[in-house]
Amino acid sequence: MQVRLTRPEISALETDALIFVETEGQKRPELATPLSAFYEAGELSGKMLEFTVFHGVTGLAARRVVVAGAGKPGKLDAPALRKLAAAAVRFLKGKGVKEVTLALDGPLATAANLAAVTEGVVVAAWEPDKLKTDPEKSKGSVETVSIAIPADAGSDLDAAFERGCIIGEALNVTRDIAVEPPNVLTPTAMAARAVAVANECGLSVEVLNQDRMRQLGMGALLGVAQGSAEPPAMIILQYKPENPTAEGHLGFVGKGVTFDTGGISIKPAEGMEKMKYDMAGGAAVIGAMRAIAKLKPGIAVTAVVPCVENMPGSKAQRPGDIVTSLSGKTIEILNTDAEGRLILADAITYAKRLGCTHLVDVATLTGAIVVALGPTSSGVFTNNEELLGKWMSAAKESGEKMWHMPLDDEYRDQLKTVYADIQNIGTRWGGACTAAMFLKEFAEDTPWVHVDNAGTAWLDDAKPFLAKGPTGIPLVTFVNLAMNWK
Ligand code: BES
Ligand code: ZN
Ligand code: ZN
Repeated sequence: MQVRLTRPEISALETDALIFVETEGQKRPELATPLSAFYEAGELSGKMLEFTVFHGVTGLAARRVVVAGAGKPGKLDAPALRKLAAAAVRFLKGKGVKEVTLALDGPLATAANLAAVTEGVVVAAWEPDKLKTDPEKSKGSVETVSIAIPADAGSDLDAAFERGCIIGEALNVTRDIAVEPPNVLTPTAMAARAVAVANECGLSVEVLNQDRMRQLGMGALLGVAQGSAEPPAMIILQYKPENPTAEGHLGFVGKGVTFDTGGISIKPAEGMEKMKYDMAGGAAVIGAMRAIAKLKPGIAVTAVVPCVENMPGSKAQRPGDIVTSLSGKTIEILNTDAEGRLILADAITYAKRLGCTHLVDVATLTGAIVVALGPTSSGVFTNNEELLGKWMSAAKESGEKMWHMPLDDEYRDQLKTVYADIQNIGTRWGGACTAAMFLKEFAEDTPWVHVDNAGTAWLDDAKPFLAKGPTGIPLVTFVNLAMNWK
């Protein structure tokens, strides 16, 4: 799909479908007379996501006019517009329309709104059906979307459009990686994807193989990997600004478990196929780095993505094993299904060694966070209020919902063992918090935020604005954090 920014004369514009955004009670001057009967009958209520299609509206050259209900006027912010634009494109795609124009004019024509709308439209085009062989599948795809802004709109809008395209494309790159089945996307394949992304956008990249990890002493990660025939890979992507405007060095760490069977502490068969998305955090970090390489913030950013497959087998790690992590801390494994925190422990230590001064990790880490927050918000944990504040304001801007969870010292008691420095699980209660507490032990006093996106990284049922499958969350928050850094 092609997305363009245009500055047309709206009434004379020839297009297959012209989308007008209308909040409740609003009537566009062009529509008030020709559609008066509809307004009077209350059929154009302006309710959020109400789409009404008209053919041949008097006074407009467009073949179809789509009135897109945008809800209460006061509530129409950039994240709401992103959803609305995406839903409108997906609605028209379902009708077989190939060429669409969305009018973003009047008070809506701001830079923040345009970036969000552009992002929404790019993201709307994506479908999780790459491996379907039916050539008919692409029949329902929109080929061109034009976003129409006022003729006199300034060049800040061109920059906003560019930003929206970059973020939308990065989200789709993340979703392309995360949607792959686990037989295709092995740790080696995930590393190859990261290398391809890096080469395309000019990031430096390095992949640590198993031998190198052994030399370094990444015993926590290697213990998880040892049960699989697929070797692990640790991806390092680096962005360095040409003219740094800020001190410090951001480190983004993403869980890359390409499939999580649970290992010897094996998971139930039902729903196990979903554990192919246990690398969604890593995929979000790779996509974020792609956007960062193109948007060029003033701060250095390093991404560390540990990739492994968690399998049972004669070589697999056992409950009772004690491993030595890269940090030197020993860990008693009580449940091999709590593998994410083990690979992240070594990745966090490694990111610190690479000089990162502020860390954010993202991981589909616990079922407990899904119980706590459902599919709406990601859980956020921290050892540093200042970094948390930056993360939360970046999230507010992105529309990716985050909820601050507790990390009190009491949770540490659950991880005590007499046999090693720490054990890898706590009790049944507060599982997302003990998992975060485990990671905190490796972040030590480096400012750190942990994001548990187990509930938000995958959409089980399509929404009007988003296809079923990977969501890319929290890619946009990562990008905003780097772009807003001072
Ligand atoms: N990858 C899972 C967490 C998960 C669960 C992600 C549901 C997405 C949806 C993680 O590795 C895991 O298995 N965690 C265990 C930890 C437990 C053994 C302490 C869990 O949450 O049950
Ligand atoms: Zn697990
Ligand atoms: Zn896992």
